[in-house]
Amino acid sequence: MQRIGVLTSGGDAPGMNAAIRAVARKAIYHGVEVIGIKRGFAGFIEADMEPMHVGSVADIIHRGGTILRTARSEEFLTQPGRARAYENVKRFRLQGLVIIGGDGSFKGARQFYEEFRLPVIGIPATIDNDIPGTELSIGFDTAVNNAVDAINKIRDTATSHERLFIVEVMGRNSGFIALEAGLAGGAESILLPELPFRIEDVCHKLMRGYRRGKLHSVIVVAEGAGSGIEIGREIKNITGFDTKVTVLGHLQRGGTPTAQDRVLGSRLGALAVELLVNGHRKLAVGVRNGRVGSWDLDQCLQGEKVIDLQAYKLAGILSI
Ligand code: F6P
Repeated sequence: MQRIGVLTSGGDAPGMNAAIRAVARKAIYHGVEVIGIKRGFAGFIEADMEPMHVGSVADIIHRGGTILRTARSEEFLTQPGRARAYENVKRFRLQGLVIIGGDGSFKGARQFYEEFRLPVIGIPATIDNDIPGTELSIGFDTAVNNAVDAINKIRDTATSHERLFIVEVMGRNSGFIALEAGLAGGAESILLPELPFRIEDVCHKLMRGYRRGKLHSVIVVAEGAGSGIEIGREIKNITGFDTKVTVLGHLQRGGTPTAQDRVLGSRLGALAVELLVNGHRKLAVGVRNGRVGSWDLDQCLQGEKVIDLQAYKLAGILSI
């Protein structure tokens, strides 16, 4: 293997830079040249690509976002779009590809492999942590910590004003951020897309708490479970509580990656290069049973990742 490409695709995730750094430096360590592909699959199609050196990835391990920038490319979803990208594989003489992103990026990687047989390794990076084949994706830990920081701050003002706060967190169609942030932030209720809930039950629990003398409450809503604003309105109508809604939005995705995300990015990036160098062709790296490893890309996309019911029940018990 003499030359590989690396790109980041989909929503940026803190820790992607650590993974890019590891890919570039591990490749250089093995004597393999690295081409950085900008703006994900969009830059792949448009040949927005340039060689990376040791210095290209200096001073980035602590930075959020992605130095390669990212995009969600509609054109790569089409065969002509992917064929244009393959022209650039030939032009830049790439013999392997590392794709850092979420499940959409993995699907693109799989499709590209099936059509052109270019060896590809996927590195899971999405704050949503919703890729079925891995317990952890790069960026999730930072996003959860960002959400918990916000909940802590909201608690100060919630207590002072004796208010109910609805905090809407990201996660697209999954509730992993909401569950972890809700449990760590001591939320009174956590509303997830995976588990049905009744607003009346949420209100009943809130009123029980207030009768017991609770001065404030925080409810964490995963964006996939419904609009925080709508849910806040409904709860206010039923309970009459002074209710405020905070939608955390993209704040969760930015900022300094946690040590965990940097370590994960470094380990997965290095492993991806090792696999390419050793002749592997279509794998995803990730974490299972707490250990870093690699699995077939198809297998990593199969099924649905399930919510930890025990953690959900525990959050309910601890927030009575
Ligand atoms: O997939 C990551 C994510 O942040 C989701 O949690 C969220 O629903 C979506 O991306 C937001 O997308 P965009 O940044 O394109 O608005």
